[in-house]
Amino acid sequence: MESSAVRRELRAWPGIIEAYRPYLPVEHGATVVTLGEGGTPLRFAARLSARVGASVFLKLEGMNPTGSFKDRGMALAVTNAKARGSRAVICASTGNTSAAAAAYAGIAGLDAIVVVPRDGVARGKLAQALLYGAKVVAIAGGFDDALRAVRQLASDFGLALVNSVNPDRLEGQKTAAFEIVDQLGDAPTLQVMPVGNAGNITAYWRGYREARDRAAATRLPRLVGVQAEGAAPIVRGSVVEHPTTLASAIRIGKPASWEGALAATRDSGGTMLAVSDAEILEAYRLLAQEESVFCEPASAAAVAGLLRLAVAPSETVVCILTGHGLKDPDTALQAVDGPVPASADPQSIARMAGLS
Ligand code: F0G
Repeated sequence: MESSAVRRELRAWPGIIEAYRPYLPVEHGATVVTLGEGGTPLRFAARLSARVGASVFLKLEGMNPTGSFKDRGMALAVTNAKARGSRAVICASTGNTSAAAAAYAGIAGLDAIVVVPRDGVARGKLAQALLYGAKVVAIAGGFDDALRAVRQLASDFGLALVNSVNPDRLEGQKTAAFEIVDQLGDAPTLQVMPVGNAGNITAYWRGYREARDRAAATRLPRLVGVQAEGAAPIVRGSVVEHPTTLASAIRIGKPASWEGALAATRDSGGTMLAVSDAEILEAYRLLAQEESVFCEPASAAAVAGLLRLAVAPSETVVCILTGHGLKDPDTALQAVDGPVPASADPQSIARMAGLS
């Protein structure tokens, strides 16, 4: 009995810290805080590959415990915050960071304060942060205002700031690049991903370089970052005071990791581009209807970006689908026609379902 239980535990995915401990700055003596993040599927997308004319894979980061890639960085940030004696964490968020901070602080026994824009946080994300037990403060302002405020509050009240300006967040998030290298047997030749506060693209670039330096990968991918047209400060080269896009996760006008994103796209030979909300919605529907992948709109921006690019047949492409579609049911329901009404009798249902 006992030995089989132990074996089952050993086979279980241990989360990113135990999986990649030699490559992560874990505080000495820390108790690992994990919800089993990472180990997400890398799925070959047959129809999208045919459309693009190259091999396209989707990294399904929505399969993380709170439904987004933020769990990777939050696992390490909260592990180290607790080991350093913090009693509470604080962050600004367009939604996913707040859900992850609330969940990881909760399991670690720390308080969480999350500051979000009053308008435009997808409902699933808000529900998560509240239910996990965070103190959720909704401000009259956008993400950039929230980030400015929490930087000051963290310093005034001695709280652990768990936005991606915290180096542990990026260290945790780079593990996604390690996983892709393990899954493909090498780095892809091209990676396309959404960009908001620009932490994630910065983290991936670090992860791929480290994987190559320790000979786990023989090459580096070109990194292409995708912003929404109404929230594209890096593409424009200037701060956007009032960013707009239906992809609320990346509605950010002054990214904290701007320099990191520029370095990642420039040094990798990639680029940063902007796509319209119409293109995002088109990619969002295409992913659901052709690949049966339900991601959130910000994630679909990656595929919208890919559809803009000329890709050689020999390329191995990875699109990072950063968050789960269930996060944002309102946008989903706006993107499609609603259900057709019918009375309960089979004939009426058959007629409305197009069977007769
Ligand atoms: N995709 C999703 C689903 C996100 O939630 C975010 C960022 C990004 C992409 C962009 O990643 O900021 O590292 O460039 N969400 C943050 C949040 C801002 O508060 O949840 P990034």
